[in-house]
Amino acid sequence: MTKKITFLGIETSCDETAASVIRENDKGTADILSNIVSSQISEHKKFGGVVPEIAARAHIESIEYIIKAALEESKVSLNEIDGIAATAGPGLIVCLTVGLNIGKSIAAFSNKPFVAVNHLEGHALSPGLENNIKFPYLLLLISGGHSQFLIVKDVNKYEQLGTTIDDALGEAFDKTAKMLNLGYPGGPSVEKASKLGDKNFFSLPEPIINKAGCNLSFAGLKTAVLRESKKIIGNDKLKFNLAASFQYTINKILYKKTKIAVEMFKKKINTSNINLVVAGGVAANISIRENLKKLSGELGFKTVYPNLKLCGDNAAMIAWAGIKRFKKNLLNNIDIEAKSRWPLDENAPYMKGPGLKL
Ligand code: KG4
Ligand code: ZN
Repeated sequence: MTKKITFLGIETSCDETAASVIRENDKGTADILSNIVSSQISEHKKFGGVVPEIAARAHIESIEYIIKAALEESKVSLNEIDGIAATAGPGLIVCLTVGLNIGKSIAAFSNKPFVAVNHLEGHALSPGLENNIKFPYLLLLISGGHSQFLIVKDVNKYEQLGTTIDDALGEAFDKTAKMLNLGYPGGPSVEKASKLGDKNFFSLPEPIINKAGCNLSFAGLKTAVLRESKKIIGNDKLKFNLAASFQYTINKILYKKTKIAVEMFKKKINTSNINLVVAGGVAANISIRENLKKLSGELGFKTVYPNLKLCGDNAAMIAWAGIKRFKKNLLNNIDIEAKSRWPLDENAPYMKGPGLKL
């Protein structure tokens, strides 16, 4: 029997301070021995978004406690841990540095291997914590900072098929929530408000829907929501209708673009067994899950979603990416530094800014 690897993961890339201990199991997935996430929702609520300096200070205040709690809950001592993984990017440098530095220090004083994890790889591999899913698979990564279609060929091997040319999907949800005064965090509050509204009431734009393969764009939709929101101040019924129409428009965009991404995937990878993994914070949205499940029924592919608890930022997915990289000997020295930008596919064209041709 081969030894089952155990890792401590640390995550501080944005507004969640998180630590987790996980161990490989016989099923090819992981036993999550602890998974502590301390959200800073109350700190950022009054500003309606994440304030980097406040986030960094909150990480500094709680990181030691969170790591201790994760170790204690797991009932695994530091001696029994095979390696430490910490998020090194992309994200807010002031935040990343907190978890990265403490991860490097623990690795140095305990003489353990260290893995600097790309947060996006954490999301990309996260379904593997619970499902023994085989490479290659198609990934729709939708979070607060990123929206991409990628082929996940293996650990550390990604090919980008499409990306947003402006806002990330989570950002569009967060901004819509702010414009409609629905509260923070934005995604879940828009989802809740949508249930009370008529999704057909407002006709909103679907930017670049007929262009550019499976690239995405949400800025024009956001501007349309802003324009309509100014006309309906004080009318709750219309506010819910606007939230519902926004979410419905998102679903129409994702339906069409995912269909294109599946076709692109089929052309590149010769397989009839297609798995679509939807990961990142926005993958917690039930209407999006149901919408893509419907598409999967039509096109005959399988959808895989991480458990709701593992969609948002957490350290179990960082520990899992750490184990996967450790087993491929993709280790890092402890002089590695945090990176604010770190694409999974380094060869993909940069899709933002002036001069973009679609
Ligand atoms: O992956 P994540 O936790 O952090 C980043 O890496 O960005 O994603 C956070 C994003 C936020 O924009 C949040 O509003 C969105 O995920 N989100 C949702 C839902 N839950 C979280 N968006 C739509 N519906 C939800 N239920
Ligand atoms: Zn994330």
